[in-house]
Amino acid sequence: MTDSPWHILGAGAIGCLFAAKLQRGGVPVTLLLRTSPAAATLPVVVASGGNSSELALPAAGVGDRGYIAQLLVTTKAPDVVTAVMSVSDRLDRNSRVVLLANGMGFAAELQRQLPGMDIYSGTTTEGAYRIGPQRVCHAGHGRTLVGQPGLTQPPDWFAPWAEALGECCWEPNIEQALWEKLAVNCAINPLTALHRCNNGELLRNENLADEVDRLCGEISRVSDAAGFTAVSQALRGTVNRVITATADNRSSMLQDVLAGRPTEIDYITGHLVATARRYGVPVPCNEELLLQIRGLESRRDGPDPVQR
Ligand code: PAF
Repeated sequence: MTDSPWHILGAGAIGCLFAAKLQRGGVPVTLLLRTSPAAATLPVVVASGGNSSELALPAAGVGDRGYIAQLLVTTKAPDVVTAVMSVSDRLDRNSRVVLLANGMGFAAELQRQLPGMDIYSGTTTEGAYRIGPQRVCHAGHGRTLVGQPGLTQPPDWFAPWAEALGECCWEPNIEQALWEKLAVNCAINPLTALHRCNNGELLRNENLADEVDRLCGEISRVSDAAGFTAVSQALRGTVNRVITATADNRSSMLQDVLAGRPTEIDYITGHLVATARRYGVPVPCNEELLLQIRGLESRRDGPDPVQR
């Protein structure tokens, strides 16, 4: 089965980047596209540091037939469950599924819909954005963590991944790693989307910095209640470091809002608020942001004028 291709669902920037890296590293891949492609391979261009390289990646349609032994899902969070369910008749209990999307909540949702499925989760700080159809700019080299709750040692399939992807490690405590990313995203993404500012503004503007403080306080209390004390203790420092390192960036949520796309708010702040309710921790600032971003989404009428 380790020789079977990794079918990649979600041919956006991260999907194409991972497909290219895996294929270059000798791990066979197949891009799964919404409609069956006219040719068996698709040219994918990855630009990085002034150079660009083109690869011919095998491609197929989600509606095609054939067993899927290994599936990597790189869609946006709200699309994960629907995307996997669209190929569920091609999977069985021996298939392995790696979910690499922002936010949390979809793995549990999927496990409910596909009981017994071998699901792994990942989180990455690789920076990539699309510069055209199947054209990706690899803007920043990052680290990828993959794991499965309760699995301390990496399974056999993981070694070729780690080799092909470079900075890619097995994470025995993947739930904590995902929670830490969620905590940082809760503190940065909704505020930048609401105020339409780059990440750095959250430290430069005093009022926004105070808001980040309040959000971090609430997120830390939920983290403690949920057993992620290591995350809560370091949170304000971690958030400051991420804001400083990404000061000139637009958060993914701001990019979604500006492009008139649905955001990942339900799988970021929505997941935090649901966890807070389960433990009886009050999170009024996060609840308010959740409502405001959902409000922005319901008024969505295509791309923001500045993006047109
Ligand atoms: O979602 C994002 O945009 C990123 O995870 C982060 C770290 C907040 C930087 O913009």
